[in-house]
Amino acid sequence: MPLSNRPTLTQFLIEERRRFPTASGQLNALILDVANACKAIAKSVAYGELAGMYGSHEGGGSVNVQGEEQKKLDVISNDIFIATTQWAGNIAGIASEEMDVPLPVPQQYPKGNYLLVFDPLDGSSNIDVNVSVGSIFSILRAPDAVVCDERPLTSDDFLQAGAEQIAAGYAVYGPVTMLVLTVGNGVHGFTLDPMLGEFKLTHRDMTVPEDTQEFAINASNSRFWESPIRRYVDECLAGKTGARGKDFNMRWIASMVAEAHRILLRGGVFMYPRDTKDPNKPGRLRLLYEANPIGFIMEQAGGRCSTGSVPMLQVQPTSLHQRIGLVFGSRHEVERIERYHTEPAAAPIDDSPLFAPRSLFRD
Ligand code: AHG
Ligand code: MN
Ligand code: MN
Repeated sequence: MPLSNRPTLTQFLIEERRRFPTASGQLNALILDVANACKAIAKSVAYGELAGMYGSHEGGGSVNVQGEEQKKLDVISNDIFIATTQWAGNIAGIASEEMDVPLPVPQQYPKGNYLLVFDPLDGSSNIDVNVSVGSIFSILRAPDAVVCDERPLTSDDFLQAGAEQIAAGYAVYGPVTMLVLTVGNGVHGFTLDPMLGEFKLTHRDMTVPEDTQEFAINASNSRFWESPIRRYVDECLAGKTGARGKDFNMRWIASMVAEAHRILLRGGVFMYPRDTKDPNKPGRLRLLYEANPIGFIMEQAGGRCSTGSVPMLQVQPTSLHQRIGLVFGSRHEVERIERYHTEPAAAPIDDSPLFAPRSLFRD
């Protein structure tokens, strides 16, 4: 299809909304505002050093609630998301990786039916080295009492299981900028036409291949892994000569959004599992604005997303910036990893004579 005939994101959303004649239009309007935020962030990312976008926020020393260093672009992207989405009467509040507590909609603006949660810039350790980064967002329903101004917004209002998400998506700022979206009716990808400044539908009904020979994990953490993950990775590394009987390839970009995009397009499995590195951090990535939106997209695309043990979208959040073990991607691989978490640990390989065939300890 020639470039000009492709539906824009606006057209796509209007057509989707026809399935819900009573819908208020707030969800579409909010998604378009988020898309505008992503366009503005894409521009900031693209100017790089020309616009002084690199480096730490306020010359260094600034950390967010996670205890992580904030890059200039983390803060700029967060501000863009807020400015673009809070004014229009579509949301009742915002929560973000870069803000300790949720931001209610300022009094001068009308409140809308939704809550917006986001990671304004994911993979920000890659900004200064010009590797793909992205934004991730999740849209939840706001409690009626908050929308009607009967009570103030609280952090607890955001603690909704991933299965409650109304919409989720991400933008990836790579060689091209793409927006990938689900409103619970499949996953669709839009490419930013840089001349028109419009997202155009280029990838309808994206699906994750069920099988894969590619995995992604930060192997520098291997000494902290739990045994099911160690077993899975060992088997991948053993390749043709091991239990899997096929060779695997490995990738690690350190931008989850870019890994999710690769997996959506050609399959694979991503793991940032719970490990024993820091007892205060059950996993590295965050449930509400990383794991849940990516999980919704994966499940809608026929893939799977899990903590390693239980389906991600069933997890009841307990705090706004909660971290969690995250495994997602090709369905059969994620199921295998879940199975390894429930099976008793594989029998130790021991070639001492006591365990040899016909010995006392052999059954
Ligand atoms: P963020 O930049 O939003 O803090 O997220 C970075 C995340 C994720 O994108 C990536 O998969 C992971 O951190 C990389 O972690 P390591 O540096 O441990 O590999
Ligand atoms: Mn992130
Ligand atoms: Mn981030």
